[in-house]
Amino acid sequence: MCGIVGYVGYREAYPIIIKGLKRLEYRGYDSAGAMIYDGESLKHSKTKGKVTDLESRASAEISLNGSIGMGHTRWATHGVPNDVNSHPHFSNSGEISIIHNGIIENYEPLKKELINRGYTFTSDTDTEVLVNLIEEVQRKENLKIGKAVQVALNQVVGAYAICVFDKKYPDQMVVARLGSPLAIGIGKDEFFVASDASPFIEYTSNAIYLEDEEMAIIRKDKPVKVRKIKDDTLVDPYVQELQMNLEQIEKGGYDHFMLKEIYEQPNVIKDTYRGRLHANEGIIQMAGVEDNLEKFTNAERILIVACGTSWHAGLVAEYIFEEFTRIPVEVEYASEFRYRNPIINKGDVLIAISQSGETADTLAAIKLAKEKGAFVFGVCNVVGSSISRESHAGAYTHAGPEIGVASTKAFTTQITVLTMIALRLAKAKGTLSNSDFHRYLQELEVIPEKVADALLTNDVSKEIAAKFKDAPNCLYLGRGYNFPVALEGALKLKEISYIHAEGYPAAEMKHGPIALIDESMPVVVIAPKQGHYDKVVSNIQEIKSRNGKIIAIVTKGDIQVRGLADFVIEVPDTTEALTPLLTTIPLQLLSYHIAVMRGCNVDQPRNLAKSVTVE
Ligand code: F6R
Repeated sequence: MCGIVGYVGYREAYPIIIKGLKRLEYRGYDSAGAMIYDGESLKHSKTKGKVTDLESRASAEISLNGSIGMGHTRWATHGVPNDVNSHPHFSNSGEISIIHNGIIENYEPLKKELINRGYTFTSDTDTEVLVNLIEEVQRKENLKIGKAVQVALNQVVGAYAICVFDKKYPDQMVVARLGSPLAIGIGKDEFFVASDASPFIEYTSNAIYLEDEEMAIIRKDKPVKVRKIKDDTLVDPYVQELQMNLEQIEKGGYDHFMLKEIYEQPNVIKDTYRGRLHANEGIIQMAGVEDNLEKFTNAERILIVACGTSWHAGLVAEYIFEEFTRIPVEVEYASEFRYRNPIINKGDVLIAISQSGETADTLAAIKLAKEKGAFVFGVCNVVGSSISRESHAGAYTHAGPEIGVASTKAFTTQITVLTMIALRLAKAKGTLSNSDFHRYLQELEVIPEKVADALLTNDVSKEIAAKFKDAPNCLYLGRGYNFPVALEGALKLKEISYIHAEGYPAAEMKHGPIALIDESMPVVVIAPKQGHYDKVVSNIQEIKSRNGKIIAIVTKGDIQVRGLADFVIEVPDTTEALTPLLTTIPLQLLSYHIAVMRGCNVDQPRNLAKSVTVE
């Protein structure tokens, strides 16, 4: 996790770094720091807290003049969040500074060795060990900074995206990556470094994404040279044209990114299927699927790995794939999959779902599946991300940058992509009737309008939020396609409002959770007309007779549940498989309003980070 930003050029580095750090705060926000070289010394400021805390402190502490510098926003791994553990860290001589995203796993033996050689440490971090290792290597072998970084990295086990500056080489910065993302923005006589491209999109639309085990030396007026860290071979870097624009990463008048992203869903779902879904012609075309159609249709089973919300999208996909394609599907947390010696056969297709494309567990699961001969298909949002590059093929969700830590539009666009894949395979395998196939295509095409309609539940969701904002617990129930939606609703509530919430298949209630129900327990029941409706109505009756407070998500015009529930939220009707795209909307809104009413930091909930690049 953590966000890193660097600048080498002719402009003042400080404002670029601060602005960049604010855009990267989704990656971690428990402390922040910056270093500017002003031509004489390395001026720095760092603090526990957010980038705004850094700003108020930095103006008094660091020189704002300097056109080379670096900044960091942290999500603590080694060492609690405090001023001292914040980055940048400095070598004992004070001449070399570093910012680091990742974990140096063998930092303890390295630290012991450095202490034996007389080095002292002020922080508890693994990063301070790395910067001193670089200094020690440089001193011992009399190396230039680039070479010293390379030699030091060859002694390190773990993951990193780093930016290193040495006062003795004041015109350059050394960057390297293994396991954590690092992009280099290429301007005219200036370069930017960042964990993703958002800090520099207003300056350049050209970027190099370093691959694992690559490093680069960046000088203001020279082309970037990329090398392999292990064997020093020069690499011809691929300069990618960026697809992001500035508007996409600003709040656009909304109070929070999360709300903006909830409201973007009708448009981004359209973006997801644009050019791929041609409902009138009865065509679904996705390059990654077309090119590998046989691998999919011959697959004896599909494995889906993901974490968090993406895992919930995977569960929805399990229902869709099995129903449409009759291919058996197994969905697993990537973190479990990678550590349990799973049985993976040559003909297996593994779909990895990840908004960020950087989730460490999902990435590791992919690598394992590849080693065992599976065909890996990535469903990612971030273009050029590690998972998208590591996969054999894939499909982007095209949701645009998701900045709010709680995933919203990523979930619905993932389901959209996965539905399209399942439909394409169903057509190829002949597992859906022609009329069903066409009906699904037509329904998917109008889903954006229905999502827009579901967003009209904002006011009622807000009223209900006001009634339940102080509840200590909440239960979410759903069946079939809407069981994963219940899990997702509960996750949204707990992560941004800190209310304990659990999602359950509605029928499982009587096997335990029903014991929790009394007049103080809000129970959100997802009960659309399509899909096990009568069964869910019975479950609602069971809750009612135990005095639970029922908030029901129903299909427009529903009468039966309205007569039983304390509150109802109506969403448009659609075919059963697509109901998650609609029922999830009021749940997102409910969590959002509850969190706002409780005074929580909606976009940056405590202890979380947007992309989880550590295990
Ligand atoms: C929850 C949330 C997380 C992510 C999870 C996986 O709102 O955002 O649970 O879904 O960390 O992240 P990605 O999809 O980036 O792999």
